[in-house]
Amino acid sequence: MTLPAERTFPRVSPGLLERARAALVEVLSPGQVRHDASTLENYAEDESDSGVYPPDLVVFPENTGQVSAVFRTCQALGVPFTPCGARSGKSGGSLPLLGGVAVSLERMNRILSVSAEDLTAVVQPGVITGDLMKAVEAQCLFYPPDPNSWEFCTMGGNVAENAGGPRALKYGVTRDYVIGLEWVLPSGEVVRVGRRTIKGVAGYDLVGLFVGSEGTLGVATEITLQLIPKPRHVKTALVIFDSVHTAAHAITAVLKAGILPRTLELIDDVALQAVDGRGFNFPAGAGSAVIAEVDGNMEEGLFAELAWLGEICEQQGAREVLVAQDESQREKLWAVRRVVSTALRSLRPHKISEDIAVPRSRIPDIILALKKMGEELGLPVATYGHAGDGNLHANILYEGPHQRALVETAIRRMLELTVSMGGTITGEHGVGHAKREYLAMEQAETVLELQRRLKGFFDPSGMLNPEKIFPAPKRS
Ligand code: LAC
Ligand code: ZN
Repeated sequence: MTLPAERTFPRVSPGLLERARAALVEVLSPGQVRHDASTLENYAEDESDSGVYPPDLVVFPENTGQVSAVFRTCQALGVPFTPCGARSGKSGGSLPLLGGVAVSLERMNRILSVSAEDLTAVVQPGVITGDLMKAVEAQCLFYPPDPNSWEFCTMGGNVAENAGGPRALKYGVTRDYVIGLEWVLPSGEVVRVGRRTIKGVAGYDLVGLFVGSEGTLGVATEITLQLIPKPRHVKTALVIFDSVHTAAHAITAVLKAGILPRTLELIDDVALQAVDGRGFNFPAGAGSAVIAEVDGNMEEGLFAELAWLGEICEQQGAREVLVAQDESQREKLWAVRRVVSTALRSLRPHKISEDIAVPRSRIPDIILALKKMGEELGLPVATYGHAGDGNLHANILYEGPHQRALVETAIRRMLELTVSMGGTITGEHGVGHAKREYLAMEQAETVLELQRRLKGFFDPSGMLNPEKIFPAPKRS
């Protein structure tokens, strides 16, 4: 089962599709236009669990000119087209809801340059995020944004979704590193926006607008990134608490004390129960845990900082602070975090995973409120993730389709609670298809309308990635 309900949309007529196929083969080559059943199936889903929407054609452009030609062709014929990368998205941003053409940027996968002098890198959109990380680290440089899917997600997708990850706590998200873009507008026109310098304030911040536009305002064909020097040392600790509430208060206390770790990842009681024994055995009595990681150039200083962090946590009631002594122990701790999402399925067959974010001071309140809500509705709620920046993956676990109405109530209440605490319905996954009907809970109709007008300015025909982000306007 998927939530929200799978929606049905009008499809492109077979005659028009055949014309589109013939035209696309002309501007590309036959091997770059696919419509065999297994390709269409492959491009019908992402990681959002928000439905199966096969495209009618999948194209694989290999350079900017070809992306532009594909866009122009689709516009000229009136065929919907939707860009995609590794389909690791968590909100359905790359799902071709109306079918039409899926435009895969996967073949544009070259790292064009890495400059240790300028502290920049230039990449094509199909570059795997992890490959970029490794390439720059080989030159003692650092690209910090680390979405959990970094081993297979692509930089183009990270730009489209403004991806973040655990290290966002200290280092920020994708938008903080993108300084320039070669961008293909929905019309097929190619523009260069932004800069190659670290500073620069000329004109409107179009880079800021395009990063996070979820594939609705065009697509990046070249991405210029700023980098930072790679911190020489990283130290990691697992702090054990008896309950998630103690852990939440400790997180707030650490940040208040003036320490800024690079991660403060929470594992609550339900998540801990799911991961315990999967490569790591938690001490008896553990009811919650926090993975704290600090980095810098002076190793001694980092041990001292971690000890200080541990003391603060102990003052708040932590039971134990386990410091990883080497890289393999560190990896073991992170493996625990990475397995949470899959492990939760061992508790209940289904789950809905949200990515709410609240102001930091409200972290303990939202955790308490969500647990209470879960108890009232009789649905277990697992809360884990980037608690240090207030961004929590709150998961509602359930048995099956018969609980659908209850789950929908839980989602709505969760998002209402979040917004009432000054938070946002999506801290890192985007609105896309999955959260479209909830955006009005957070943004006023005037703000939604302003954004619909922006979309209409860039894409008057609405052929690029239709039916995303903004709910239909309210009839008055
Ligand atoms: C994570 C993904 C779900 O942090 O955002 O695991
Ligand atoms: Zn996350």
